[in-house]
Amino acid sequence: MKRRIGGGQIELLRGNIVEQRVDAIVNAANTWMLGGGGVDGAIHAAAGPALLAECKRLPVDAGGRRCPTGETRTTAAGALDARYVIHAVGPVYDERYVDEVEQQLRSVHASALAAAADHECASIAFPAISTGAYRFPIARAAAIALDAVADFQRGPRALAEVRFVLFTVADLAVFERALAALDH
Ligand code: APR
Repeated sequence: MKRRIGGGQIELLRGNIVEQRVDAIVNAANTWMLGGGGVDGAIHAAAGPALLAECKRLPVDAGGRRCPTGETRTTAAGALDARYVIHAVGPVYDERYVDEVEQQLRSVHASALAAAADHECASIAFPAISTGAYRFPIARAAAIALDAVADFQRGPRALAEVRFVLFTVADLAVFERALAALDH
C-alpha cells in the first residue's frame, strides 16, 4: 500500500528490513546498542562486524547506555545496501505507564526522521519498532508510528520515501488498516 502524505510517499510492505535499498535503515535497538535478536540481530548479521565496532565507539553513560529510550543514534551501514543505520530505541510496553510509552514511541519515530533529514537521506525504512520483544500492542503502535510520520511529512523536511517493512502478512494488514484510518 502506498499513500502520498505531505511532501513524500509512505509505503507499507511485507519483507525483511535488511533487504531494503534505501538511504537509511532503522534498527529496533536497545539502549546498550550491542546487538540483540529480531531486527537488531538481523541488521548486525547483514551489516557485519563493522557495525558493532562503530556502535561500541559511541559514548556510554554510567549505566553503559549509548542511547536513551525514545532517541536514536546514527552510524554507517557496514555491508547493508544503505548509507546509514539509524538505531532507534523504542519503549518496552508497560500498561502502567501507557502515556509515557506512547510518547516515547512517537518520539523515536520523529527522532529517526529528523536524523535521516540531517543526513540528507531521501528514503528510510522502518520496522515495527517495539512490537516484538518490547511487546507494544501492534495496532496501537501502528497508529502512533504512522501519525508521527505523517506529522513529520507535513513539515518542511519531508523525506521523499518512508517505508514500513512488516515481517508478516498479519502485521502488514494491521499497518494497512492504520494507514487507511489516518486522517491526514
Ligand atoms: N525485518 C523486518 N521486521 C522484523 C525482522 C526483520 N528481519 N525481524 C523481526 N521483525 C519484526 C518483529 O516481528 C516485530 O514485529 O520487527 C518487529 C520488532 O521486533 P523486535 O526486533 O523484537 O524489536 P523490539 O520489539 O523493538 O525489541 C527490541 O529486541 O532484539 C532486541 O536488541 C533488541 O533489545 C532490543 C529489543
